[in-house]
Amino acid sequence: MDHEIQNPIQVLEKGMYHRLFPPELEITPGLSDVYELALAYYESRILTNDELIKNGAYFVKVDGRFTHHYFICTGDPLKIPDYSSSRLKSFFLNNQFRTGYATHGLFPYRGKFHPQMIKAIINIMGIKPGETILDPMMGSGTVSVEAAIMGIKSIGIDASPFCQFMAQTKCDALKINPDSLNAFLTHPEKLFSDFKTLSMPMSVSAQKKQFFDNYPMADPIENERIFNLIFLAFLDSDGYARRSNKKTHADYFKSILERYIASITKIGSAMTQLRISPAEASLYQGDARRLEIEDNRVDGILFSPPYSFAIDYLKNDVTQLQYFETDIHNLSQQMIGLRGKTMKDKYHIYLEDMDRVLSECSRVLKPGRMCAIIVGTNDSQLSKALNIQKDKVSGLNKVMVEIGRSKGFRHVRSLPRQIVGMANTMRQEYIVMLQKQAG
Ligand SMILES: C[S@@+](CC[C@H](N)C(=O)[O-])C[C@H]1O[C@@H](n2cnc3c(N)ncnc32)[C@H](O)[C@@H]1O
Repeated sequence: MDHEIQNPIQVLEKGMYHRLFPPELEITPGLSDVYELALAYYESRILTNDELIKNGAYFVKVDGRFTHHYFICTGDPLKIPDYSSSRLKSFFLNNQFRTGYATHGLFPYRGKFHPQMIKAIINIMGIKPGETILDPMMGSGTVSVEAAIMGIKSIGIDASPFCQFMAQTKCDALKINPDSLNAFLTHPEKLFSDFKTLSMPMSVSAQKKQFFDNYPMADPIENERIFNLIFLAFLDSDGYARRSNKKTHADYFKSILERYIASITKIGSAMTQLRISPAEASLYQGDARRLEIEDNRVDGILFSPPYSFAIDYLKNDVTQLQYFETDIHNLSQQMIGLRGKTMKDKYHIYLEDMDRVLSECSRVLKPGRMCAIIVGTNDSQLSKALNIQKDKVSGLNKVMVEIGRSKGFRHVRSLPRQIVGMANTMRQEYIVMLQKQAG
């Protein structure tokens, strides 16, 4: 039987959104991808209007009232310095509701999640304020920053000490009093040279003390947060300077620190107005294959593992890692996707490692709750490595579902998402949603 056919004028006049969303909801501008519409649709079905106002990701208005997401993302844009490149400016403007808000724009980590997408996934996983979410491979800590703003507690783990530092700094930056930062902007050249004279590795507290002898402040906890923030800007600008031959480390440091302070001022004032105090984030350096978390402890798990051997996170972060006390050899043995001589070996060891990670995820998750894994398909690389045709390669999304099943998970849904800009390695990633079965 044919479905109901309607008059074109009536169909076009009503539009598509009225079918998808209740009339009182207004979606964020610029939703262009199918996965974004899908997440908005699920949010609209799963959250109450009040929840959508407080924690929804894809709506700017509910029943005529602006959402918190709108307040957090809009208003005075990030005060990107005038001399920033037009590319950087348009990135922040085009992605106003997607990615550059709160403290997410501090350090552009490779493979970082879209925060707006993460907020929606947390919502559709049914995780509520006061509950706890785990990201066992947190990278730059996108899940923890988003959860903190949503009033959800988080546990974040990463093998890399630099990731632990970066995620901690981004979460702590939500608590910094922006007024205490302005003093650091008055003489950026002096600040930079003071930092330059500290010796590596910088994680030693004596160095922080030495630094704060020059910048006396009342509160030692606030001191630590500010030191870490400036240190992150220092590392970020070092990376930019190494990739460019036009500007020096000191030039980049000034503009990046200004941007960091503008971000913190903006989110700080939005949170004060909305009376949000960030929820607790417990972030550790550790191994996702051996979680130091008790059984049935967390209410949800959301993470993105390395996409087999597609990105070498150790090589990527080598500039930053040298500032931390790191045994690079030990770290390379812990990093998933790096062990093995040939690509084929690497892939098999990767599968063994992911088997252990999902086993741990199943152990620490409460029964009935969800584990979402975001994973891409590097089919071309895998077809070469395994010497099989590309269309015969089983995508990592399917592999995760299979491993998950063997650990007591049920596959609920996988949402595909196109990846732009990595066409030769990866074209698509999936949000794979699993539920831990009871008993
Ligand atoms: C795709 S990235 C995660 C990015 C993160 N979702 C974000 O928003 O920034 C994968 C992360 O897994 C981490 N990793 C690799 N092996 C690990 C292990 N055995 N235990 C914990 N983390 C690991 C890497 O250091 C990297 O940060």
